[in-house]
Amino acid sequence: MGMSSDRAPALTRGPLSQQALMDLYAPPQESWVRANFVSTMDGRATGPDGLSGSINSPADKAVFDALRAFSDVVVVASGTIRAEGYTRLNTPDEWVEMRTAAGRAVHPPLVVVTGSGDVPDRVLEEGPDFGDVLVALTEQTSQDAVDRLTARIGKDNIIVAGKDRVDAATLLAKLRERGWTQVLTEGGPTLLGAWVDSGVIDEIDLTVRPLALGGEGPSILTGSSEALREARLLSVLSVEDDLMLRYQLSVSK
Ligand SMILES: NC(=O)c1ccc[n+]([C@@H]2O[C@H](COP(=O)([O-])OP(=O)(O)OC[C@H]3O[C@@H](n4cnc5c(N)ncnc54)[C@H](OP(=O)(O)O)[C@@H]3O)[C@@H](O)[C@H]2O)c1
Repeated sequence: MGMSSDRAPALTRGPLSQQALMDLYAPPQESWVRANFVSTMDGRATGPDGLSGSINSPADKAVFDALRAFSDVVVVASGTIRAEGYTRLNTPDEWVEMRTAAGRAVHPPLVVVTGSGDVPDRVLEEGPDFGDVLVALTEQTSQDAVDRLTARIGKDNIIVAGKDRVDAATLLAKLRERGWTQVLTEGGPTLLGAWVDSGVIDEIDLTVRPLALGGEGPSILTGSSEALREARLLSVLSVEDDLMLRYQLSVSK
């Protein structure tokens, strides 16, 4: 199949207005699962300090905020929650109106995916300017951990979604039951590997930063699968030397 002109992805050059971000990142379907990641040009998902904060940029952050603004719920695995110092989510002022006009909560709820139940206290703390937090765990999560989490966030915010691992399709079905159909995951690589393997990811939003790092470290996707999966390029946003790519993985959808 050749690349016909009607399939040529839109190329947009920054700097970007909020309207341009809204046009570019509006979800294409009512039910859509996205994953947002940043990578160096040599494919590394973390900088020399082992974190992604050291490889991102203002343009990447603008897209990151836009993707959150379009989501009903954000899902993040506990490894990333612990490493990156996550708290509950807070919507920047400039996105609040757009969220409320669309009938979304001011701040998106955060779902933490964990087997161990090891979720840092700072994520469980309540605050008026933050969204809810839910924890997705397994039938094998220790009773001590379940009791601690239930005492902090209440049993309605605990989702059991698998026997020994949190199963992506089961979790997504439970989120849909709550009316959350626009789902964003911010990782990390272990979670993304499992979700891609399960076939639940519709779109990967990938920022490529003009950084050559070398050495060793994870790519955006780790796991056991060696299967090649082909994606379709939906759009390209170029701001200074950064590329923000939208790839559709569920090509048949
Ligand atoms: N470049 C980027 O865009 C980006 C994005 C995110 C993260 N990162 C980087 O990635 C690194 C973390 O990588 P990682 O692969 O360890 O992260 P991860 O996927 O966030 O965390 C892995 C941990 O999360 C829990 N988990 C993940 N999937 C699960 C499942 N299906 N069921 C149950 N538990 C599950 C498990 O923890 P427990 O059972 O122990 O709780 C597991 O050990 C950090 O350095 C972070 O900075 C980069």
